[in-house]
Amino acid sequence: MEQHDQVSQTDAGHGHGHTEKESARERPRLRTISNHSVDPVVASRVPTPSAAISTGQPLPIEPYRKELVEAIAEHGLLVIVGETGSGKTTQIPQYILGHDPNARIVVTQPRRIAAISNAKRVAEEMGERNLGNRVGYAIRFEAVVSPTTQLRYVTDGVLLRELVDDGALSAYDVVVVDEAHERTVGTDILLGLLKQCKRTRPDLKLLIMSATLDVEKFSDFFYGCPIFQIPGRPYPVEIMYARNMRLAALQSSFVDRAVDTVLHIHRHERPGDILVFLTGSQEIERAVTATEKLDAKLDYRGDVAHYHSKDPDGRRVVGMSVFGLYASLETGQQREIFEPARPGYRKVVFATNIAQTSITIPGIVFVVDCGFVKQKLYDPVTHMDALVVTPISQAAATQRAGRAGRTEPGKAYRLYSHEAFSDLPPNTEPEIQRSALLDTVLALKAMNVHNVQNFDFVDAPNPDLLRLSVESVWVELRGKGAADSKRQAQVYELRRQFFDRTGDHLALYNVYSAWRDHDYSRSWCRENMLHHRALEQAQKIKRQLESILDKWSVPDTSARDPTTSRIDPVPILRALCTAYYPNLAKKQVGRPVFYQYAVHHGKRADSDALMSLAIHPTSALAAAVEKDDPRVGEIEWVFYHDIMYTTRANMRFVSRIWRWEWVEPYVPRLDRAMAAAAAPEGTEDGDERVEKAATRSENPPPSASSSGADDA
Ligand code: CDP
Ligand code: MG
Repeated sequence: MEQHDQVSQTDAGHGHGHTEKESARERPRLRTISNHSVDPVVASRVPTPSAAISTGQPLPIEPYRKELVEAIAEHGLLVIVGETGSGKTTQIPQYILGHDPNARIVVTQPRRIAAISNAKRVAEEMGERNLGNRVGYAIRFEAVVSPTTQLRYVTDGVLLRELVDDGALSAYDVVVVDEAHERTVGTDILLGLLKQCKRTRPDLKLLIMSATLDVEKFSDFFYGCPIFQIPGRPYPVEIMYARNMRLAALQSSFVDRAVDTVLHIHRHERPGDILVFLTGSQEIERAVTATEKLDAKLDYRGDVAHYHSKDPDGRRVVGMSVFGLYASLETGQQREIFEPARPGYRKVVFATNIAQTSITIPGIVFVVDCGFVKQKLYDPVTHMDALVVTPISQAAATQRAGRAGRTEPGKAYRLYSHEAFSDLPPNTEPEIQRSALLDTVLALKAMNVHNVQNFDFVDAPNPDLLRLSVESVWVELRGKGAADSKRQAQVYELRRQFFDRTGDHLALYNVYSAWRDHDYSRSWCRENMLHHRALEQAQKIKRQLESILDKWSVPDTSARDPTTSRIDPVPILRALCTAYYPNLAKKQVGRPVFYQYAVHHGKRADSDALMSLAIHPTSALAAAVEKDDPRVGEIEWVFYHDIMYTTRANMRFVSRIWRWEWVEPYVPRLDRAMAAAAAPEGTEDGDERVEKAATRSENPPPSASSSGADDA
């Protein structure tokens, strides 16, 4: 066990000390706060636990019930800030119901497990016999609610979907965005959409709740709305640092060190439960097993320091009750975590970041902080997000330490040195600024927000991350000599083996499948003039998408016909072409050029004109279109990946849309109306108007082939 230095909390530069206390009477609590202040006295002096279940001590929020209710009644928009565990999530909705028994309230949580456990807790406190009567919860694929449910705890995603169906959220009087400090992509999108919603629903109460202090940002975003601050935690926390331990060295060993530290605390410290912050379920399970093994070997009758320890009821400590806490845990298993340890046992909980602010475990006196968190990070190689173990921020370390001081003075063991702490970034960057935004863009598109760049975000995403470009899989030869053109013809022949009559997307699929069938071989790529690195990227992206689908619990279906084991292209193309909307184009009658279906949002100044598009010569469909190849059949509609401007506008990566009905249901109403105005469907008249528009455009549609069969 390495040495831990003790540094007082004020020395460590974070404010849970007594030094910052001030009198509650002098301090206006409803204000735009500018600094952090704590008052350890007020909370413990005021008796009045209002809840049906008493934890023995009043919650820090309770003295402020009346003022809170008044502030909520007075202000349509309010930011509420208070330390984790002060009672925001569980009490404030009950206060509102106490004031207005008919209020319909929804409280969002970034995590499912928090939605469920808070709903259960509040239902119990309200004396509800069943969950789903007055209090319920809704997470994806699971809703425990009924028409009589007035208070719902839901995940961000659930409320986002409700906003799609009803932009005015008429089912609610009060919307509470909880854990706003977490700044997940879901929360950030929600805040932007709720700001819009509030314009059409001035009567809607919108409360933003946050555990940390960087809340001016939320107030600024919501027109400088007031901030209600609930005074902080009552007890000081001593901080212990591991001597000379840098994060780089710690990263590979923090699980073992965490277990060692738990043993150290168990043997040498007074009674009190231990909360250990680790990064993921696997390490947690490993730590639980290791701790249980070591506990079994401890000689509780021998002469070790803990021998003299007594539990809070005066019983001698005889063992540890060890738990893991992470998002994918069964709900049944979680229950015990919130209950007091068995008599004579010390409770030890190994948890992910979920215990940092989302979930409060009672009885914690010791915190062990590994200094790392698993979070989404943008990977510039794959242009996708990856879950990466990264150092936490100072704000997060302070939050973690604070979990030890809720019921009595506590101690936080940081597995890293004081110097390492000083090097940590002060705050955690919002997820939206460090993720590839595939999720964000998809979520916004699902909400009919197509112009992501102009969306009103609390913090705008990095515009570079909004482009998801990947290098081409085809090796291109550039040269003009005779030898080169012969070589180019060979390359084309190689490429043709993957071509598909539906177009380029399935051709790419064929390339990928063939590569997989050749054991992802590098030399096979070389022989076939394919970029190995591009295929590797595709493989990574495939895995990433699989994990997103997994996260959303989308069932795994295959487009493969089970009898012939051949791919059915229709569902694939259908999915793709709705995803590519509005990149749709219709072929002009008798000509190898197409016109664009809809305005290409803000990409070009002349985008109002219905541009004429050619097919890029590398496309699997190029030859067929130019020669009107009867084997391909008549092509009417296509969708494309992007447009490359040379002397003409070329669609790259093009596939056919067999039936217009594939796309029809997905076309948003607005665009449908616009299309109807520009080109009444299926009439000659429409085609004429479109062609006129094309002729008027600045770049007249050039020839797509040497035949010159177009209007250039
Ligand atoms: O939202 P905030 O962090 O301010 O506090 P809270 O979640 O409302 O928690 C208030 C109290 O309720 C804490 O003492 C928790 O330990 C307790 N609680 C609980 O025992 N079980 C839950 N599922 C939720 C809260
Ligand atoms: Mg809370």
